[in-house]
Amino acid sequence: MATLPRPLVGDGSPVPCLDGTERPYLSFDAAASTGALPAVADRVQSFLPMYSSVHRGAGYKSQLATDAFEEARASALRFAGRTGGDDVAIVCRNTTEAINHLAYRLRLDRDDVVVTTVVEHHANLLPWTRLPVQRRFVDCDLTGRFGVDDVVAALEHGVRPALLAITGATNVTGWLPPIDAIIEAAHERGVPVAVDAAQLAPHRPLPAGADFVSWSGHKMYAPFGAGILVGPRSAFADGDPFLAGGGAVDLVDLDEVVWTDPPEREEAGSPNVIGAVALGAAVEELEAIGWDELVAHDIELAGALRRGIAAIDGVALLGPPLEETTLPVATFVVEGMPHALVAARLSAEHGIGVRHGCFCAHPYLIRLLGLPQAEIERYRDDLRNRDKRRVPGAVRASGGIFTSLADVDRLVAAVTEIVHGGAAPVEYEQDPATGDYWPAGDTAPWSAGDRSLGASCARG
Ligand SMILES: Cc1ncc(COP(=O)(O)O)c(C=O)c1O
Repeated sequence: MATLPRPLVGDGSPVPCLDGTERPYLSFDAAASTGALPAVADRVQSFLPMYSSVHRGAGYKSQLATDAFEEARASALRFAGRTGGDDVAIVCRNTTEAINHLAYRLRLDRDDVVVTTVVEHHANLLPWTRLPVQRRFVDCDLTGRFGVDDVVAALEHGVRPALLAITGATNVTGWLPPIDAIIEAAHERGVPVAVDAAQLAPHRPLPAGADFVSWSGHKMYAPFGAGILVGPRSAFADGDPFLAGGGAVDLVDLDEVVWTDPPEREEAGSPNVIGAVALGAAVEELEAIGWDELVAHDIELAGALRRGIAAIDGVALLGPPLEETTLPVATFVVEGMPHALVAARLSAEHGIGVRHGCFCAHPYLIRLLGLPQAEIERYRDDLRNRDKRRVPGAVRASGGIFTSLADVDRLVAAVTEIVHGGAAPVEYEQDPATGDYWPAGDTAPWSAGDRSLGASCARG
């Protein structure tokens, strides 16, 4: 029996709208962060009375907390398809930290090449940019995709790369690169692969063939601040850890240190036990639902969402054609209406939460929008001057296991009304510092005085 959609904690909470009524909040921002699964919240609640220090206490509660932490680590490894091997799961804050951690730990130098792609989130671009390495990029077409052949061409372009760093699914279009075939092609050429699975994790099984995988709990219904980096133990066995400090060492003198073994070597400082326990509970819950149902729901939702948005006159859906299976993500532009205004109106008039802007993926967005060079130069100049009024971008609606087809209907009706329903009920004013719009007037809590509530999408 189908058990999806499944409400998350706080789903449907009433939020105030401009017309003075309250509407049940509808999150279409799952690609950014999700609420907690009830099973995750229950696990955290029942663990809290047992909370204690991990790997640092002789007390009984420390034994229990350490057990819970290690159980969560085991769940993460299982979720990544790594049982029985010699991989380790390192508990960190999120995908961004995991990739920075990996970039530091691989100890690459200026002769090394890292191949990555233009569809990456900044989290999988910037950590490689800071290294002294040479970078090679796989470009995409106007629909935001590339093929295995394009990746192979980049891998074979010159000296053998030290790493292919690639996303398992993009946060902008929901496109799923053929990741297993890409990993196979890279391995055939002796190139290890690091997969950014931040978007993939809540939607599809993680690629068991990848050498390194990272993901975040807050995008998979465990918003308690933990993320995971999985990789072979050998990659972390030598050299300085990313963070130096207590818990990562066996011996310290003022002029000597003996680092301990991974994964603890990579987890200096007191770990986020609650975050790990929550992430482990989310893994168990997703396993209990099962990938068959998760994927079936995802595909039905993605189709309805993308078709519904694409069918609105004056709205252009970015990314792959409708026939392609993607994550439940619809990223779109409205002809003649700034993306920030569409998002503001969805929130203030309809109680619907989406994201707008460039989604921390500037190189990808400018390709999807097909921006001419002059326009790119213009907006970059604006940004250097901290003027965000004319930043190009789009609106992104993204769903998850909590999203129903009725939710899609509500979103599509709201976008249709914004695009075709005539003038907005009030004027909206734009803040040049963030580019966000805010209703003019004094309807609480949408009055000018409440503007500090604005959660700007401006930062990349
Ligand atoms: C594809 C992708 N990679 C990495 C990240 C960064 O994740 P986090 O903010 O949890 O570090 C995100 C976040 O949106 C993402 O979508």
